[in-house]
Amino acid sequence: MKRPQRTPSYHEYLQLGKILSAQRPPDFHAADPTTTRDLIHHEELLFIVMHQSMELWLKMILADMELARDLIGRPGAEDSSVPEEDIPKVESCLERAALTLEHMTRQFTLIETMSPLNFLTFRDELIPSSGFQSWQFREVEVLAGLSEEERIDFEGKPYYAHMPAEWRAGLDRRRNEMTLREAVIAWLARTPVDEAFPGFAETFLDAYAVYLGEQRDYQAANPNLAEKQKEELFARFEASLEDARQFLLAEDDLTRRAHQAFVFIATYRDEPLLRWPWALVKRVLEFEEHFRLFRFRHARMVERMIGLRPGSGGSAGVAYLDATASSYRIFGDLLKAVSYLIDARRLPSPPHDEILKFRRQ
Ligand code: HEM
Repeated sequence: MKRPQRTPSYHEYLQLGKILSAQRPPDFHAADPTTTRDLIHHEELLFIVMHQSMELWLKMILADMELARDLIGRPGAEDSSVPEEDIPKVESCLERAALTLEHMTRQFTLIETMSPLNFLTFRDELIPSSGFQSWQFREVEVLAGLSEEERIDFEGKPYYAHMPAEWRAGLDRRRNEMTLREAVIAWLARTPVDEAFPGFAETFLDAYAVYLGEQRDYQAANPNLAEKQKEELFARFEASLEDARQFLLAEDDLTRRAHQAFVFIATYRDEPLLRWPWALVKRVLEFEEHFRLFRFRHARMVERMIGLRPGSGGSAGVAYLDATASSYRIFGDLLKAVSYLIDARRLPSPPHDEILKFRRQ
């Protein structure tokens, strides 16, 4: 290995000089943008460090998501099939991205040590800036595959119009890239379900109808339910069968194949050859869950910190944050399909399990 010309030090390697000199905020009262000011309150340091560390973690999440997307989506590659050895790599990137989100979520207990009244001592200095303008957070959303139509309108302007112009280019680039969702759906759609199990969707739906019929019988005999409640439940069972049908027999070819693969992989997940695909699918759902938990936990912290005041960025505050936590989904269709899963023993074995070499030693 080539020896370095100079001996690295901890501080130099990590560029701590740059990082640790960035906790004095710019003085926005001064004409010179390089002028900084003293902290207004001791706890302003916590506020700054929390946000700066969030941005560093977002950088890590983006790197992991990007690698996962590239390995599984192979954008630009002629052959889109994913080498088997890449699946565990994708799985570990998604695992880390989810755990990093979880780590960020846990940090909210730390910012809650700040008193809401101490926050008010410096809050006005921030207006109208806000976490809403975190372009890395938006990049995570876009790269994950949050659709533009699903976004809640933010004060009459699309979210990217709130970004400082100099940071919008990176976001625009992301908006034209393949998303993680697209990559995962295309990968799922390539699972040869029909080869291993011709007519899988129809067989599954028949078995699901039998299952729902049994559930109906159980509830019909439930002495704790009034007739009206029973009728409501029965209507839900019927609607669930219709939902499952629409999910598995979706009109769009890619979506239909991906949805069938999701249910197929989940049903036969114990077969050796489906263990890695199942591990990956679980990570995808875990990532989604942690993303939502981050939003929900942030909203609870904000509620404690500013009550029902509008946000510094001008949104409705907690109401806006709660709306995003409850409605933003990336793999919502797959999560919903968990309601249709049934035990593999309710289905016949795949007629051609040799095709997937399920029992390869
Ligand atoms: C005193 C602490 C905090 C308060 C009162 C607060 C409040 C808010 C509010 C009200 C919004 C909505 C936009 C607006 O009108 O400003 C927002 C957005 C956001 N905040 Fe915070 N926040 C705090 C700390 C944090 C921290 C520590 C993080 C990261 C670890 C964070 C990350 C974000 C992100 C990513 C958004 C955009 C969310 C979205 O649009 O879906 N915030 N914050």
